[in-house]
Amino acid sequence: MTDVLSVDPERPDPTVIERAALIIRTGGLVAFPTETVYGLGADAFNDDAVARIFAAKERDPADPVIVHLADAGDLPLAARDVPPLARALAERFWPGPLTLVLPRAERVSPRVSAGLPTVAVRVPAHAVARALIHAAGVPVAAPSANRFGRTSATTAAHVLADLDGRIDLVLDGGPTFHGLESTVVAVEDGRVSVLRPGALTVEALNGALAELGAPPAELRRSGPSAGSPGLLDRHYAPRSPLILVRGPAAAVRAWLKEALDARPDTPLGLLLFDEDAAALQPLRPLHRLAALGSRRELAGAARKLFAAMRELDAASPAAIYAVEPDLEGLGLAMADRLRRAAAEVVDLGPREDPTARTA
Ligand code: TXA
Ligand code: MG
Repeated sequence: MTDVLSVDPERPDPTVIERAALIIRTGGLVAFPTETVYGLGADAFNDDAVARIFAAKERDPADPVIVHLADAGDLPLAARDVPPLARALAERFWPGPLTLVLPRAERVSPRVSAGLPTVAVRVPAHAVARALIHAAGVPVAAPSANRFGRTSATTAAHVLADLDGRIDLVLDGGPTFHGLESTVVAVEDGRVSVLRPGALTVEALNGALAELGAPPAELRRSGPSAGSPGLLDRHYAPRSPLILVRGPAAAVRAWLKEALDARPDTPLGLLLFDEDAAALQPLRPLHRLAALGSRRELAGAARKLFAAMRELDAASPAAIYAVEPDLEGLGLAMADRLRRAAAEVVDLGPREDPTARTA
């Protein structure tokens, strides 16, 4: 049985938090909101509890999870030998959506790190998450609260859709703010590499690095061979095949129009920015749109992305068509998740925008 308790996202009721913290302290599993996505938390010092996370999610044991702290001052509980540059980034961005990969402290269950000598750590910027971790009195290991390989959960309903009956409690604090996971970075020899783009943009990270006199972050090519294990190429996947279209706006719209015209009587899902959706109107009744808002307002689009994917997927369309955002700001992380979700990528050539990077 999975209990659900509502909490005020800004001023959580201490008795509700204490109930959840007791579950963590006694080796159970609690899903809770963070500012990025919902996490599935367990005591990071308790090997059996961490094993339960992997079982509930059916997560690959080779995919390490992130350890969450209530406060940057608790860092020695989770990590040791923190390089000065990592410390400076923590001071600048915590609490917030930056995850640092650091040498693992002894008490943290090796299972958390999938056997690696390192551990990924962050301090979430969410009152519920921080109150829970503080009350638990231990670092909280928490991957995203979804079944392995599926889209991350941005609401309590998403958590239940994947994990009902498999975990002890969900703290329902409403939809999460960023809608995308944290940015995971490694710091080595005074250089930062981005292992997973996320809610903290590379531009913001590089701004801080410039102020600190450090070189700009290197973007690691993701995939099984990359520095972040478990970053599978196919991940975040809806059940219906997702077809990701990238290229100049006019070519993308013409391609989509043709694709829709060819399948007028097939249920299809469309995950589109308003600008692209407007060019395809009127849509046929079986072609369902989940609109992300304007491509100029990526914060709003990022917040909606995973919920929109789940919403379209629920209708089991024959395919879901999505358009890649520009690879700037939050667009980089959105494009990363869409590519991992995609069964097929249709590349219609470089974008017309000369500032858009192509990777
Ligand atoms: O925003 C987030 O990061 C959310 C919330 C709940 O905090 N958590 C999250 O966790 O997305 P998860 O487990 O779904 O993703 C963790 C990522 C994985 O890509 C994993 O490969 C990477 O962090 N990671 C964890 N430990 C690592 C390590 N020791 N070295 C390299 N990468 C690591
Ligand atoms: Mg995840």
